[in-house]
Amino acid sequence: MAKSVAKKKRTSPSKLPPRHWRKEIESVLISQERIASRVRSLARQIQKDFAGRDLVIVALLNGTVMFLADLLREISLPLRLDFIGVSSYGAGTESSELVFTKELRLDVSGRDVLLVDDILDTGKTLFRVSAILRRLGPRQIKVCVLLDKPSRRVEKVTADYVGFTIPNHFVVGYGLDYAERYRNLPFVGVLHPEMYKNPDFIPILTPKKMRLLKGLEGVQDELDSHGGQEKSE
Ligand code: IMP
Ligand code: MG
Repeated sequence: MAKSVAKKKRTSPSKLPPRHWRKEIESVLISQERIASRVRSLARQIQKDFAGRDLVIVALLNGTVMFLADLLREISLPLRLDFIGVSSYGAGTESSELVFTKELRLDVSGRDVLLVDDILDTGKTLFRVSAILRRLGPRQIKVCVLLDKPSRRVEKVTADYVGFTIPNHFVVGYGLDYAERYRNLPFVGVLHPEMYKNPDFIPILTPKKMRLLKGLEGVQDELDSHGGQEKSE
C-alpha cells in the first residue's frame, strides 16, 4: 500500500464527556468540532487526488456510518458507493476471527478504489479486505481511515488518508462501538475500562432466525403443514 500522504493530526489532552456519559466514557479524545474540521480537510485532499478518475468508494460496515456520511457530503466528485460488511469483534476489545456480513456488489476492475474504515488497529481487517479487492484488478486501492492506532499494528498496512493518529486506547463514538453500543456519540471518547471487565451481550440473530428472515424457515413450515403441496384458494 502507498505511503501515507495525509498530514496526521495528533490528538490533544482529553476532556470530560457530557455528564450523562461519564459513567461509561472516561474522556473525550476528539471533539465533534475537531472531527468536522478534519473530515473537511480529508475530503478536500481526496477530491484533489481523485479528480477525473472512475472512483468507487468501498466502505466497511458498520463503523464507518458517521464518518462516511460526513466525508461523502464534502466530496463533490462523481463517484460510486458500495459496502463490505465485516466484523472482527465479539463482545470484547480484542479483534478475533473476521466474519463477513455483506459482500461487495460493484465491479471495481480497472477503477480507482477508496477503501474507507473507521479505525486501523492491528491491520488485519484492511489487510484481508484489500487482498480480496485486489483479486478484482482495480486500477489502484487507496485507504482512508478516521483513526490510526499504529502501536497495535500486526499486519503491514498503512493508510493513505488518516484523520487522527491516536494512542493505544479503546475508543468509541462517531460510529465506533463497543459491543454494538456508543456508535451514536458525536465525539470520539475513551471507553471506561470498567465497561469491558464484564463483556456485554450482543443480541445477534441465531442461524434459525436468519433463515426465518430470508423467508426459508417460513417456506419450510408451509411445505410441512401442507404435506409438500402448494396452497390453493
Ligand atoms: P483491525 O483489524 O485490528 O485493524 O481492526 C479494525 C476494526 O476493529 C475496526 O474496523 C473497528 O471496527 C475495530 N476496532 C479497532 N480498534 C477499535 C477501538 O478502539 N474501538 C472500536 N473499534 C475498534
Ligand atoms: Mg469496524
